[in-house]
Amino acid sequence: MEHTSLSKETACNVITCWAAVAWTTNAPLPMEIIEVDPPKAGEVRIKIISSGICGTDNHILEEKNKVPLPAILGHEGAGIVESIGHGVTTVKPGDKVLVLPLPECRKCIYCLHPRGNVCEKENVLSPTGLMLDGTSRFTCKGKKIYHLYGTSTFTEYTVVDEISLAKIADDAPMDKVCVISCEVPTGFGAVFNTAQVTAGSTCLVLGLGGIGCAIVIACKASGASRIIGVDINEQKFPRARALGATECLNPNKLKKPVHEVVMEMTGIGVDFAFEAIGLIETMVTALKTCHVSYGVCVIMGVAPSDSQLSFDPMVLLPGRTLKSSIMGDYKTRDTIPKLVTDYMLKKINIDSLITHTLPFKKINEGFEVLRKGNCIRCVLLF
Ligand code: APR
Ligand code: ZN
Repeated sequence: MEHTSLSKETACNVITCWAAVAWTTNAPLPMEIIEVDPPKAGEVRIKIISSGICGTDNHILEEKNKVPLPAILGHEGAGIVESIGHGVTTVKPGDKVLVLPLPECRKCIYCLHPRGNVCEKENVLSPTGLMLDGTSRFTCKGKKIYHLYGTSTFTEYTVVDEISLAKIADDAPMDKVCVISCEVPTGFGAVFNTAQVTAGSTCLVLGLGGIGCAIVIACKASGASRIIGVDINEQKFPRARALGATECLNPNKLKKPVHEVVMEMTGIGVDFAFEAIGLIETMVTALKTCHVSYGVCVIMGVAPSDSQLSFDPMVLLPGRTLKSSIMGDYKTRDTIPKLVTDYMLKKINIDSLITHTLPFKKINEGFEVLRKGNCIRCVLLF
């Protein structure tokens, strides 16, 4: 039996550590002692170093998005490989890694297609809360605890399938790069890959939270000449302006609907409209705001479970394009390590996307900060 590079002290053992366990929704997350099983074949156990708190984690706690509970949430994390299971070849103990809420098996028809990025093995669209083999590696008080999207980062140790991991540079700043697991590729890829924003274009960004801000940065980097930001929380405006928004609108202070106001401001509508809120009404606004013939609308927000999008199909007929993407259409394992090196080479700046930092044990404070409204991303340090 091949046992190459397992770390000696802990590798084959169950690890006992602290985790924030979501037993239920609409309640603070208690810190619990949990047991983390060793990785099975094709799996990797990781010591988490940092994790972002994403809007989606909050949506789960607020019951907007449903996942199996009790679970360990968190899907945006950076860590160090502690041990590997049989047959794992792409990482070894001691490697720095990012967990990936969207895996890339590199074998399925979706992964092999040049444009496909939603791997057949994904666990994010209808989450099972389990590893690929259909079981969980977490136990707390004798109860099985579910994983989240094949990741789970609100724990000192986690186990993920090898296909849900990207090895990153050895000198990557671990306190920052966790946001490159989700927030950064979702926003950047929406602009660079899904919409393919062109130089000189006019862009509309609905929602100036973490995803919206990443979209603003990428629109500016693409040479957009006009970037209109929209948010009901004006505390979000100064940062959005600093990142590249040329105008900011508060729908609650407008006398007409946003799409009418933007039509008047631009005369013809925008080239590219992005929805980064997650409400069906604002998705329709984004669509109606883009140019009738060549406008491209990209929906990035995650709508509540079971909601329905509805609009007059005549809105599309003249030529508008309605698109969406997960993780910004990036093939995650192939391209996310490059975003990390681009950041280290200062080709992209993600620092402004992290506004708060807290020790892991203050995770509930992190969720409060997120709900208050001036937070873009709160990063937990372990
Ligand atoms: N009109 C305009 N802005 C709104 C509205 C509205 N009706 N409702 C909320 N907003 C603003 C909020 O004030 C906030 O600034 O949308 C922003 C959303 O930002 P975050 O809560 O930080 O969420 P974010 O992480 O950016 O994610 C946005 O994308 O990935 C999905 O699940 C995620 O649906 C969510 C969306
Ligand atoms: Zn695949």
